[in-house]
Amino acid sequence: MTKPDLVILNARELVTLEGNSYKPKTKEELKNIGIIKDGAVVVKDEKIVAVGKTDEIINKVNITPKTRVIDAKDKTVMPGFVDPHTHIVFGESRERELGLRINGREYLEILEAGGGILGTVESTKNKPEIELYESAKKRLDTFLKEGVTTVESKSGYGLETETELKQLRVSKKLGRTHQVDVVNTFLGAHAIPKDYKSYPDAFVDLVVDEMLPQVVEEGLAEFCDIFCEKGVFSVEQSRRVLTKAKKAGLLPKIHADEINPLGGAELAADVKAVSADHLGKASDQGIKRMAEAGVVGVLLPGTLFFLMNDEYARARKMIEEGVPTALSTDRNPGSSPTESMSFIISLACLKMKMLPSEAISAATINAAHAINKADKIGSIERGKQADLVIFDMPNHEYLPYHYGINHVETVIKKGTVVV
Ligand code: NIG
Ligand code: FE
Repeated sequence: MTKPDLVILNARELVTLEGNSYKPKTKEELKNIGIIKDGAVVVKDEKIVAVGKTDEIINKVNITPKTRVIDAKDKTVMPGFVDPHTHIVFGESRERELGLRINGREYLEILEAGGGILGTVESTKNKPEIELYESAKKRLDTFLKEGVTTVESKSGYGLETETELKQLRVSKKLGRTHQVDVVNTFLGAHAIPKDYKSYPDAFVDLVVDEMLPQVVEEGLAEFCDIFCEKGVFSVEQSRRVLTKAKKAGLLPKIHADEINPLGGAELAADVKAVSADHLGKASDQGIKRMAEAGVVGVLLPGTLFFLMNDEYARARKMIEEGVPTALSTDRNPGSSPTESMSFIISLACLKMKMLPSEAISAATINAAHAINKADKIGSIERGKQADLVIFDMPNHEYLPYHYGINHVETVIKKGTVVV
């Protein structure tokens, strides 16, 4: 008889997402989210030790005065959300750009003129590490209240070695000190800095010859990403960076076909990237190739919404072709300033026609696959880390339906109630 630390009982819907720890969900599997009615979860030593119907579980566990018992009657319980694509360590955000964009300036035009990402680069360079840490910590606090228990975090507001390393060190420290788990990605090739405007290849040299070896040497990242976009990095420059990164031991990711169809999805398949992200303009061929290569498509509808773009990624086509789809906030200071995974799920349903069940798979188990962590997180299964969220909702469909509201009531991280 287990003597558990924590037990959740009577959940109206326990959404387990079980069965896909080794391979992300594709096609029909996305709809199958493993709902147990009147469900229970048992936790011991930070891990899930039993999952099932309340009346069966109750006979198996030895509840002691030390066990925390939570009655989830009328509630929905899900695994903590995993956000596989964020830029949370930065100096200042860029509210002034909203007015510019409302008046018709394009996002890439603002970047071209030295604003956008380059504006945040300036403010990030000037901020001491402690201030970057404190501001990013607040963002993680918000994520946790929104039911997000793991985030990926990218550098990319340095564009020179010292500041890139500073951002990654801050991010790593957040992972050690914050309840939210943080997974680091090196994104030295996020924009071309002003001084290199006429010599983009020389900047690529700097990324691969100077930054990358130091990131690897200090063990500061698991993944390497690049912004492959018109006027930023070409497909060939992206191939060079990702190939070098892979050789150095980092797993490739790519900002692909976000605004213009460049062939980023095809490149992701070529280099066997863990994920290709954005994909607003991914080609038919690119989608097919990603499905064949098993590259997770991380869709970021919040970004296209915030950039006032009416055309969203073709989620239905991707699902039909067998691309494992995931969702993310893309939390960043310029193109998607939100921590609300619930709102992203609503957008996925309303703008990309994903079903609530598909969107929930994409925000949990498939998002865990997008950061190579599906063996530990992303579902409610025996042996997994006890990252659980109790929502004040009668069923999972209520989440995208009653939109723009945070329905999270309780968050459990590694078996401890943290919200
Ligand atoms: O994922 N597209 C490139 N990078 C970020 C935006 C960063 C910013 O605007 O500060 C993105 O959308
Ligand atoms: Fe991004």
